[in-house]
Amino acid sequence: MDGLLALVLGYALGSVPFGLLLAKAAGLGDIRQIGSGNIGATNVLRTGNKKVAAATLLLDGLKGFVAVVLARHLWGDDLTWASPVAAAALGAVLGHCFPVWLRFRGGKGVATNLGVAFGIGWPLGVAYAVVWLALLAALRISSVAGMSAVVGALVAAWGLGFTHFVPVLAVIAALVIWLHRANIARLRAGTEPRVGSKKAKDA
Ligand code: G3P
Repeated sequence: MDGLLALVLGYALGSVPFGLLLAKAAGLGDIRQIGSGNIGATNVLRTGNKKVAAATLLLDGLKGFVAVVLARHLWGDDLTWASPVAAAALGAVLGHCFPVWLRFRGGKGVATNLGVAFGIGWPLGVAYAVVWLALLAALRISSVAGMSAVVGALVAAWGLGFTHFVPVLAVIAALVIWLHRANIARLRAGTEPRVGSKKAKDA
């Protein structure tokens, strides 16, 4: 029962579509009609508004972080794969990726999962952010950086001793990669846009 409650709590938090709301509030239009159509920070950046993109990244991350921290507070510090904390983390990512308010068409989960990582332990969050930012700086391809960070988090979680949480991160990683299938197709075709370019057909 606790697990179900935690899943619903995480989902409710994760389903707030900050990218869509902030872009609309800033007069940038419906982000789903721009670029890749994704509601995440990368696509918000394609509007050219760095501040709104940064705010989207921060708030999408915060959803995962708050879900995990709240679950730890409410149900205790059990960080195993079958715990309420795991359900809250999964719920937050599911809520972000499949928000009921947007007919289940949301984002791809990279930023929300970063927040989850920080909620589990700050060294895990730092490892995630370092992989993401380093690859973003080197390649300027957001999808490659994001997918690498999500997979890297598995290795980091193992190395940092969050072994029992690895299955949860593995499920999230599989979901995130599946949601990037249009990006993967573009990568294979050599047409995936780099950060700073507005071109991105989708998805
Ligand atoms: O986090 C989403 C990013 O990895 C890809 O975004 O808009 O290029 O599909 P986008």
